[in-house]
Amino acid sequence: MDRVYIFDTTLRDGEQAPGFSMTAEEKLQMALQLAKLGVDVIEAGFAAASKGDFEAVSLIASEVKGPVICSLARALEKDIQMAGQAIAPAERKRIHTFIATSEIHMKYKLRMSPEEVLERAKKAVEYAKRFADEVEFSCEDATRSQRDFLYKVIEEAIKAGATVINIPDTVGYAVPEEFAELIEGIKNSVPNIDKAIISVHCHDDMGMAVANSLAAVKHGARQVECTINGIGERAGNAALEEIVMALKVRKDFFGGLHTGVNTRELYRTSRLLCRITGSFVQPNKAVVGDNAFAHESGIHQHGVLANPLTYEIMSPEDVGFPSTRIVLGKHSGRHALKNKLKEMGFEFREEDMDRLFEKFKALADKKKEVYEEDIEALIYEDFIRQEQEEPIKVLHYQVQTGDKLLPTATVVLNFRGQERTATATGNGPVDAVIRALQKALGLEPKLLDFSIKALTPNTDAQAESRLVIELEGVRASGRGVDVDVIKASVRGFVDALNRALLRKSYILSRESLRQEGTV
Ligand code: KIV
Ligand code: ZN
Repeated sequence: MDRVYIFDTTLRDGEQAPGFSMTAEEKLQMALQLAKLGVDVIEAGFAAASKGDFEAVSLIASEVKGPVICSLARALEKDIQMAGQAIAPAERKRIHTFIATSEIHMKYKLRMSPEEVLERAKKAVEYAKRFADEVEFSCEDATRSQRDFLYKVIEEAIKAGATVINIPDTVGYAVPEEFAELIEGIKNSVPNIDKAIISVHCHDDMGMAVANSLAAVKHGARQVECTINGIGERAGNAALEEIVMALKVRKDFFGGLHTGVNTRELYRTSRLLCRITGSFVQPNKAVVGDNAFAHESGIHQHGVLANPLTYEIMSPEDVGFPSTRIVLGKHSGRHALKNKLKEMGFEFREEDMDRLFEKFKALADKKKEVYEEDIEALIYEDFIRQEQEEPIKVLHYQVQTGDKLLPTATVVLNFRGQERTATATGNGPVDAVIRALQKALGLEPKLLDFSIKALTPNTDAQAESRLVIELEGVRASGRGVDVDVIKASVRGFVDALNRALLRKSYILSRESLRQEGTV
């Protein structure tokens, strides 16, 4: 078989990472884009983990057509039952059940004997078959598991009906040659392995998640579990865009293997995730970083102009990297906006179009040229996020500053239904307004990172603020966009705070599962 299936776990393993939690609506937006990207399976969440997770999985199962919709479940009847209920509305469904098979996990986390684990694995797969034809079984911490026991568990899981066997490198311990050898071992030692697809799920603790996944593919794995921008527990998971492009660019090496991914949607998907989670990718990130196609040195520039293949192994168009970025201006009409939105992959109802067109006109009046990034920012800020119930809403603020004035800011905001006002001074106008916000809220988050940059290259550009904060042990990122630098900062700061506050309740609901040591 020369097809490699792409199993996207951005909304499950990716979302588990600090600072990346998403609401059900945000997950749906991501899932719709993942369907456009052409992934084969969307792991939409862990239905039994919380009410929010359950809702997100069932929302995606009802709304997203195309990919298989999957929910994770521990090898427990109650988890499997909830996963089954959550994915029920999907056209194509899968339950992904797992239990750890390494000695260290069985002894200290599960407190179960190998025999009990084997029995539990069989029962879980059999039970999951009641809810979905496709059942995936994972041997958690497979790379640190005793080989003969691992083979036995896999064999029994397949006998019980598993159609996909996933081999996770849960703690990012493997190295490529050794991981490839493990896949060979499974192929040669599990007698019924031809009845299932071998999948791999690699974490990036030593920066080898992509290399390990590709080594496994070269040796027979035909499903790769990965996430957009490589987000995930700790150092993250294998990055989807890197796996897909490596298979495409090095088809010669991989013997013609291919995926069903439309690579032209990679850049857009990466940026949508950033927008939704308030995160960012480093500029030198492979495939989707801002510098991935930038040639700075004269020699490189000369070569690329003469023939792009001198220094580019893939073209920016292949991954949907925007080449010309100016798209619309203040004379552009509703029709032009609608066409542009369609080109960008968005479709809106007529009444939403009216509201969006008004917002667009207001922005185009403030700046001469409107870029794709501006339009995306507008859609996100004014549509997607507005639908959510956020704990903090800034009603208005005022800042006085000048070379002979002590920067002073006053803010009026609503915090969980209560109106509050505060004034503060600071080193600069941004510092003053942030201090005023903190005072009004009575919250003192630690600012771990803060940057502001122009989204596009003009003095009338929209400014984008990006922040990472820590509030009572909860880390969150935030992002704010506006033509006014101070407003962009206020939006970013409040965005991060809202995410931290929303995340706190989410964490509480997961606490009980964490105590069992199984999430
Ligand atoms: O890393 C891991 O082992 C997992 C499993 C639940 C597949 O995420
Ligand atoms: Zn994982």
